[in-house]
Amino acid sequence: MVQFPQFPQALWRDSAELPDFPDLNKSIQTDIAIVGGGITGLTAAYILTKEGRNVTLIDASNVLNGVTGHTTGKITAQHGVIYDELIQHFGAENASLYYEACMDAKQFIADTISAQNIACDYQEEDAYIFTNSEDYTAKLQAEKNAYDKLNISGELTDSIQLDIPVKSVLKMNDQAQFHPVNYLKGLLNEAIQNGLTLYEQTTATDIEYNKHPSIVTQDGHRINANYIIQASHFPFYDGEGFYPVRMYPERSYVIAVKVPESFPGGMYISAESPVRSIRSASINGETFWLIAGDSHKTGQAESTIEHYDALQAYAEKHFGISEFVYRWSAQDLTTLDKLPYIGPVSKHEENVFVATGFRKWGMTHGTIAAKIISDQILQYDNPYQEFFTPSRFEADPSVREFTKMTADVAKHLIKGKLEYTNDNVKDLKPDDAVITRVSGKRTGVYKDSDNQLYAVDTTCKHLGCEVNWNSGDRTWDCPCHGSRYDVTGDVIEGPAKESLDKVNLE
Ligand code: FES
Repeated sequence: MVQFPQFPQALWRDSAELPDFPDLNKSIQTDIAIVGGGITGLTAAYILTKEGRNVTLIDASNVLNGVTGHTTGKITAQHGVIYDELIQHFGAENASLYYEACMDAKQFIADTISAQNIACDYQEEDAYIFTNSEDYTAKLQAEKNAYDKLNISGELTDSIQLDIPVKSVLKMNDQAQFHPVNYLKGLLNEAIQNGLTLYEQTTATDIEYNKHPSIVTQDGHRINANYIIQASHFPFYDGEGFYPVRMYPERSYVIAVKVPESFPGGMYISAESPVRSIRSASINGETFWLIAGDSHKTGQAESTIEHYDALQAYAEKHFGISEFVYRWSAQDLTTLDKLPYIGPVSKHEENVFVATGFRKWGMTHGTIAAKIISDQILQYDNPYQEFFTPSRFEADPSVREFTKMTADVAKHLIKGKLEYTNDNVKDLKPDDAVITRVSGKRTGVYKDSDNQLYAVDTTCKHLGCEVNWNSGDRTWDCPCHGSRYDVTGDVIEGPAKESLDKVNLE
């Protein structure tokens, strides 16, 4: 078997140089404050500064270090098998609106690349959903009927250019792929030239109101603004929108490998689980095959490293691996009705916006979100505004899911607290972790390769669920709403805003 990279590293981040920005060390005033330097935040910053608006963007870490830096970089309206379901739940007119929103996002990206002359390996490709299961063959037929009803250009066949067994394949014509970080670096540079102010290592913890909303940062500074855009993946400010119970987090995995054969073109995804998504990427003349999938609810996998193993085994079985170059994982949020929440955070707070719940399709959804919110601020009409508004709440299928997910969170809240483990810290091997009890408290202990121990109280600082060890990424992950912490307990990903408590082992 080919050697597995010891630490996760995303191909996109490793192949792009990005500038550093200072942290915010005083209170400031701005017209529009954006929290989060991913595709939504940077695209909105680009659009709004181009219109001459005064924009400040902050990021809790570094720009493009979150989900956007860890995507598969597909720009497509083929978001799995969804159009038949969208027609059933929302009607053909709304299903069509969804498709058009995605295709408009693709067009926006293509137009921006050519207007700004951005070198980001943008390539038009057809997208394919394949299945080797009889059950899904019928589902793909129903999905093709939905394509026909919505005038989506595509075809149903029984073969694929990749050497994998298939019974049925549904093609969607004229989709695209790119290098997401290089694309957004182009937007970032342009926004800076247009006057964008940017701060990194600056965590937003709350929004308070006087006459206008203010972001309060972890260091106690304020950003007073007319408008605030939460583009931080999970919204750090809820505004009574009840987002923690309206979404659930999932992790999925990506490996980048070199393969003896050349890539035949196209972007592929399986209909059935475990999902396998396959595309190619060319960096400096080298071609990598990206194999992604194997998702699960965050914090609920027994051993996360097994998901990389599964992708590696799949790639080896079907294509052969000559070199294993990168591996990384990403976290996504799915909403009750599978559509993103884009718009005012709640009905009463018209100038605080949220963009979340992209269900692994952040390149299109993030672009749609940036455009909708910017249009709302600029008071331009946008045909998709109402469809994606977070205050929509369809009873079907939401209510059933709502009840199920609330129960799931409650289960983890209680289960984690009662769970007893006997693992002995003394037996812990380097670069491994256990959950044990210290003075009666559930404690996570990680030992690094120099035998240094890091112990943290495993109670999540968001709403008190218990975090679990992620062996693939060496992080503590919360199963309830997806907060993630590093081995020292510091927050990598919200909604938690505070570090886990440290535990003294002596
Ligand atoms: Fe909500 Fe942990 S992320 S309780």
